[in-house]
Amino acid sequence: MKKLTFAIMTLLCCLQIQVQAQKKIFNETPEQKEKRLAWWLHDRFGMFIHWGLYSLPARHEWIKNYERMTDSAYQKYFDNFDPDLYNPREWARMAREAGMKYAVITTKHHEGFCLFDSKFTDYKATKTAIKKDLIKEWVEAFRAEGLKVGFYYSLIDWHHPDFTVDRVHPQRTNNAQEYERLNQARDMSKYRTYLFNQVKELMTNYGKIDILWTDFSYPGDHGKDHNDWNSIELIKMVRKLQPGIIINDRLDLEEYDDGGDFVTPEQYKVSEWPTRNGKRVHWETCQTFSGSWGYYRDETTWKDNKQLLVLLIESVSKGGNVLLNVGPTSRGLIDSRAQERLAGMGAWMKVNSRSIYGCTEAPADIQRPDNTLLTYNPDTKRLYVHLLDYPLQRIALPGLKGKVKYAQFLHDGSELKMKGDDKGALVVDVPVRKPDVEIPVIELMLE
Ligand code: GLC
Repeated sequence: MKKLTFAIMTLLCCLQIQVQAQKKIFNETPEQKEKRLAWWLHDRFGMFIHWGLYSLPARHEWIKNYERMTDSAYQKYFDNFDPDLYNPREWARMAREAGMKYAVITTKHHEGFCLFDSKFTDYKATKTAIKKDLIKEWVEAFRAEGLKVGFYYSLIDWHHPDFTVDRVHPQRTNNAQEYERLNQARDMSKYRTYLFNQVKELMTNYGKIDILWTDFSYPGDHGKDHNDWNSIELIKMVRKLQPGIIINDRLDLEEYDDGGDFVTPEQYKVSEWPTRNGKRVHWETCQTFSGSWGYYRDETTWKDNKQLLVLLIESVSKGGNVLLNVGPTSRGLIDSRAQERLAGMGAWMKVNSRSIYGCTEAPADIQRPDNTLLTYNPDTKRLYVHLLDYPLQRIALPGLKGKVKYAQFLHDGSELKMKGDDKGALVVDVPVRKPDVEIPVIELMLE
């Protein structure tokens, strides 16, 4: 009897999950969604840009929070903001040369400062020494280099007088009773209107916007969730104004199947293709070169070229995208450490991008040899074997005997001889000397 009750409970629970998973906001078919996301799924690699007043203190974009600064303590960064060397054409060129196909910029970060010329605030770039709508120029420059353009918009706002003090606010308190007093004069509904007005500006004043990256929700005690942002109406407005747009998953709408188009694992590598309710979902990991998103002068934990390439290849090998961040300086430049890394990735991408664009996880029946990562292009039926640790003279690919028409190095298109062995593996001969590319790739044309 107990067992039966347990079985029924489990069944009901599963049904509930199923019903939950089917809740939808829009009536878009799965095929229509795939079509809307097609370019993004193909392109795989984008640039994230975190730029704002925090580039002046140059010690993390959360500095106002970390150091519990008041608006007046933070004002000096607004007063001294003057990115006189800002040239978004240069940024766009660097992104393109790194092999990136799209870019997402912070139009406003948690500090509340707007890089765009919003009608609803004076806390914006046009009111600083530079006197320009920095987003307008950015959009034009990135489009001109052939990149898709995306807007990051912080739902959080540590400057707006109506944004209520919560547990991540610079003026937060350890005494739960105090929140009421702190928020007496603050009215979230007014902030919501501001948020809608600004998102509307971003979605109407800059032409076609390819991505909206909202950030972020933190439900629970003294937190903020979809009710605070009126997320359902917000996403509806965005999709109405920009029907083709792709939206991330930080509006706290997980209970809807279409409350976001992709999930956003931040600063860690996923162990396998992420799922929700047992179903694989689209995903993009966002990552920094070093620990911070905003320009951080003294940060020393910079990833090296190989780590960054492995991050990209491994993400694609699990069906995902990478959004890799730069934090420009307050003068408006991408600093030399970031430039060096972009160039390193670009050198590899120039000759190996075929193993990234249009690629995804390899078919499940293909075994991955040790020290390699596999990606696969389902349209061309080509399998890419990334040699993380260069083998001595040959590499065996289990189960592939008789299944490959032709093999070559990807970087120079030079033939690699192959033969089958008696265990069913395909053995590919490689030269003793490792080719002069960080991670050599073998391209296999499958039958
Ligand atoms: C976080 C941080 C933030 C950064 C972002 C990027 O949620 O608050 O500073 O902009 O993630 O994913």
